[in-house]
Amino acid sequence: MSTLENRAAPEHVAIIMDGNGRWASARGLPRSFGHRKGVEAVRETVKAAAEAGIRYLTLFAFSSENWRRPESEINDLFGLLKTFIRRDLAELHRENVRIRIIGDRANLRDDIRSLLLEAEETTRGNSAMTLVIAFNYGARDEIARAAARLAAEVAEGRLKASDIDARMIDERLDTSDIPDPDLIIRTSGEERLSNFLLWQAAYSELMFVPELWPDFSREVFFAALERFGARDRRFGGLSAKAVALGS
Ligand code: FPP
Repeated sequence: MSTLENRAAPEHVAIIMDGNGRWASARGLPRSFGHRKGVEAVRETVKAAAEAGIRYLTLFAFSSENWRRPESEINDLFGLLKTFIRRDLAELHRENVRIRIIGDRANLRDDIRSLLLEAEETTRGNSAMTLVIAFNYGARDEIARAAARLAAEVAEGRLKASDIDARMIDERLDTSDIPDPDLIIRTSGEERLSNFLLWQAAYSELMFVPELWPDFSREVFFAALERFGARDRRFGGLSAKAVALGS
């Protein structure tokens, strides 16, 4: 069993959970089985993240582009999120996990919207870890909504257009109270961000792992965290080594 030794955990890890469909197809099963197995991987990952001392874990559960999937699959994904919140909310609350949802809630069904709100309200005061679920989330949509808010404030005379800076955009994103991800992991070997946290990913370390999401385990997660610990993050400056050498 792998453990994390002497490495500072990243504060925020975000994960693009990819490969549920392929996991199911490889076994001759309908895609829905892959999503179901994917929820088990979600449970294991949340536990492992808390164990590793991660403060924020963001999971990409449903993208604004996922509406292009067949209706039956969309219903399945909505159903799984509902079941997850209904079944796991009490335990997450007991474990002192705060739940935050990002994404556009405007066109979600009332039952889903109120369930998401209930999960957030119930766990608002928790402090062990924040589980951020990106649901009906698309980064371009999020940035466009922030821009519309700024435009409205300018139109109302509360803000001057020439005063708008990156911080003001940041404060109007869904993630305004969440630090940028230190590490973004995508499973299944695909190497792209697919409209996930595009603004917040400016300095994130990206990691692409071959495992399909249902096969993502505590071991795979901890191995990724180990690799992250060995990365040299410079944020546009110099590496610690270069500074030490005075080069
Ligand atoms: C990508 O696999 C995965 C998704 C689109 C959905 C992820 C959702 C879950 C794991 C379940 C619900 C989430 C929570 C937080 C309870 P894919 O279907 O795109 O796989 P493929 O690329 O192999 O077809």
